Amino acid sequence: MATKKTPAGKTPPKSQAAEDLKALFEDGLKDIYWAEKALTKALPKMAKNASSEELKSALTNHLEVTKTQVQRLEQVFELMGKKAQAKKCDAMDGLIKEGEGIIEETEIGAVRDAGIIGACQKVEHYEIATYGTLRTWSRALGEAEITTILEETLAEEKEADVTLTIVAESAVNADALEADEEEENEEEETNSSSKKSSKGSSKSAAPKKSGKSGSSKSKK
Ligand SMILES: [Fe+2]
Ligand SMILES: [Fe+2]
Repeated sequence: MATKKTPAGKTPPKSQAAEDLKALFEDGLKDIYWAEKALTKALPKMAKNASSEELKSALTNHLEVTKTQVQRLEQVFELMGKKAQAKKCDAMDGLIKEGEGIIEETEIGAVRDAGIIGACQKVEHYEIATYGTLRTWSRALGEAEITTILEETLAEEKEADVTLTIVAESAVNADALEADEEEENEEEETNSSSKKSSKGSSKSAAPKKSGKSGSSKSKK
């Protein structure tokens, strides 16, 4: 379709641009296939950086689920009579980079855990939106079997999101709140007691409250 004229104000399509819903659907599959594969590499890093056991296991669990989702997508490609092909997903690339940035910008412990949960929930929401759309398109295309497969993954992404909320609300957020208070106390201590060594770097070897048992707080 090289001879079509682009109307004023519209962006001209690239040479391989999708011409129908089926082509758009297949592009979407390639995109999420790249994203899921990228997540199988990103999730272990997130899990390693998590301190809460609940969060670690939620992430390792979802890593296994994600590996199954990759296989499921390969099955979808097969049902479409296509070779499984990944196309870089700029959105997921950005979300993963943002997650890595959050790790670097947070102290290890509950605060980093809260950051990881937030970053991972953005990923899950992106996946929920993507699979929701793909499922609707495949339904419109009359692909019943593919629709069922995609809905299975969609349900898993929703479940992962709920699990992360539970982990956040059951302990991580409260611990992160306390970590902030601890830090303030430490700063006060450093300011009042050791005024001579004014090195600026706030938290060093200040005593940590012992017996911090993580999930013993009921605050939300
Ligand atoms: Fe996924
Ligand atoms: Fe996911």
